[in-house]
Amino acid sequence: MTSVTSDVYGSLPGGQTVKRFRLQSEFVKVEIISFGCIITCLETKDRHGNSSDIVLGFDDLEGYVDKHPYFGAVIGRVANRIAKGSFTVDGKDYLLPINNGPNSIHGGLKGFDKVLWTPEEVENGVQFSYTSGDGEEGYPGELNIWVTYTLVGNELAVNYKAKTSKTTPVNVTNHSYFNLAGQGSKDIYDHEISIDAEHYLPVDETMIPTGDINPVEGTNFDLRKPINLGSQIAKLQESGFDHNFCMKESQKQQICARVFHKPSGRVLCLRTTQPGIQFYTANFLDGSLKGKGGAVYPKHSAFCLETQAWPDAVNKPQFPNILLHCGEEYNQTTWFQFSVE
Ligand code: BGC
Repeated sequence: MTSVTSDVYGSLPGGQTVKRFRLQSEFVKVEIISFGCIITCLETKDRHGNSSDIVLGFDDLEGYVDKHPYFGAVIGRVANRIAKGSFTVDGKDYLLPINNGPNSIHGGLKGFDKVLWTPEEVENGVQFSYTSGDGEEGYPGELNIWVTYTLVGNELAVNYKAKTSKTTPVNVTNHSYFNLAGQGSKDIYDHEISIDAEHYLPVDETMIPTGDINPVEGTNFDLRKPINLGSQIAKLQESGFDHNFCMKESQKQQICARVFHKPSGRVLCLRTTQPGIQFYTANFLDGSLKGKGGAVYPKHSAFCLETQAWPDAVNKPQFPNILLHCGEEYNQTTWFQFSVE
């Protein structure tokens, strides 16, 4: 049985109330706020039955309203990078805000992570809805979007549905930063990970995929068998992982990634309907943010598994399509399964 309760989390500078929803099962407690659909707390038990909060974040709303690297938030209208913030749809050119080097990232200056959603309690969870206006952050068409979090036993499901009035790119994900040792632990080097992907996307110096779809075989991106994260990161030329791993259609809803933290026994398994996973090892965290309970978050103190479409897909016809047309429904789900070993 999952209990769903709610309270007031805080007020935005404009005075609007932000609500917090607490979903609790025997194994997992998760808290989500109506600002940015942000997961602010996620507690699971270790092998001795002790609970810890395993996601990075802040103690109060102010932290989430201020600039931060998308802790726990829902990202859209298009998660990840769009080269030079430009694309063409139905013969019309669009230019988005440039907010990451020469590129546009994570929906622009005020993406889905920075807006207030309308919440509604549902069985075992909460549904948030939002209407993104035609032209908002440069994107075409009015987009109605629903994000539903449900917790059943040890599995948290996140479903994204959307409809548009005009053809638009859509790519929505959740950007939780996990540390299975408990948030505030200094690194993730003692975590073991496997990602069941035969291909990954190499990127250029601005982090845009080159367009090649490379086999992982024989590279440091071969994570098909569990590897220790500390030693694997040490082998990379890059400062850590920040790459899209390609899922196959046949893998839909199968377990596609698994993270094991031996000292605590915590295991996180992922299933998804999405075609890719951006595996990011928090390379840009630098310890300057004041996190929950006074925690600091240095480089590599968390990992993200952002299930999503492939970066810059709107400009790369060889990548799976991310255009949503009027009359179609966008419908994607990711399941986070927590257990101990
Ligand atoms: C990107 C990183 C970025 C992080 C925070 C991830 O999705 O791949 O490069 O630093 O989000 O913006």
